[in-house]
Amino acid sequence: MHIVHTIAELRQALSTAAQPAFVPTMGNLHRGHLSLLKQASTLGDCTVASIFVNRLQFLPHEDFDSYPRTWRADCDALESVHCDILFAPREHDLYPEPQRYKVMADPVLASKLEGSFRPGFFDGVCTVVLKLFNAVFAGKPKGFAVFGKKDYQQLKVIEAMTKQFALPIDILAGETARDHDGLALSSRNGYLRAQERLKAAALYKHLLALSQAYQTLSGDQPVAAWCLAAEHDATRRLSELGWQVDYVSVRRRVDLEPPIDSQGQPIAKDSLLVLAAAKLGQTRLIDNLEF
Ligand code: PAF
Repeated sequence: MHIVHTIAELRQALSTAAQPAFVPTMGNLHRGHLSLLKQASTLGDCTVASIFVNRLQFLPHEDFDSYPRTWRADCDALESVHCDILFAPREHDLYPEPQRYKVMADPVLASKLEGSFRPGFFDGVCTVVLKLFNAVFAGKPKGFAVFGKKDYQQLKVIEAMTKQFALPIDILAGETARDHDGLALSSRNGYLRAQERLKAAALYKHLLALSQAYQTLSGDQPVAAWCLAAEHDATRRLSELGWQVDYVSVRRRVDLEPPIDSQGQPIAKDSLLVLAAAKLGQTRLIDNLEF
């Protein structure tokens, strides 16, 4: 694997690639990241991963300083999936001067759910992703980038940004990798204390229960009202188990808007998902499930 730190080195390393396939990460890689890399390796002619903990997407009280940085293990993990190039810019490589030009994520898509609890988060994500895309894909006729469904809203925001800026990049979605009990793999799971880890799969289990209950809904039941009641019920149950719930919300997959019953237009069974964010102790987890 070729390890590069500057944009100039990256472009040199990519000079013979026509269609790179890219997976941006913040490191502390787990099985979920590696499955995105494996997916990427089936797409282009050169697989690129980046590791960069992006200051712009952290709020002042968040965990930028303590975010796990596991360089050696990450390099070994990327070698194990035959990643061709690792782009690991230092902060001054990507932000040699304060980044005053920023991408403002679609205010409708980015202000709901995660955006309402982490204002500015998606602007920070879009700014760094556009910059990384520019580093990897400049001059290439076409490229691929893979983002995990674990961060579903991020995936939708990046899809929309790529489309609106007419970037010649196909955005692919990778499935969420889960632990043996269903907990979605996340770099932040490492913050959980042993006792919290035992409880952590409850988030997934409640999303699963909600999605299974939805399958039993009969055609004449009003979907929107059912969803509100189900969200409320899941929130109450999680709170009783000691979670601080930010949201449990059933949304349309296409635009993350709430499901609306329109006259004579039944909501297609496979068009929804439920998203959740909740804190267990000091650790905030997010998850979602399509149904
Ligand atoms: O999902 C992440 O790890 C980050 O938000 C990303 C896409 C690498 C941008 O910093």
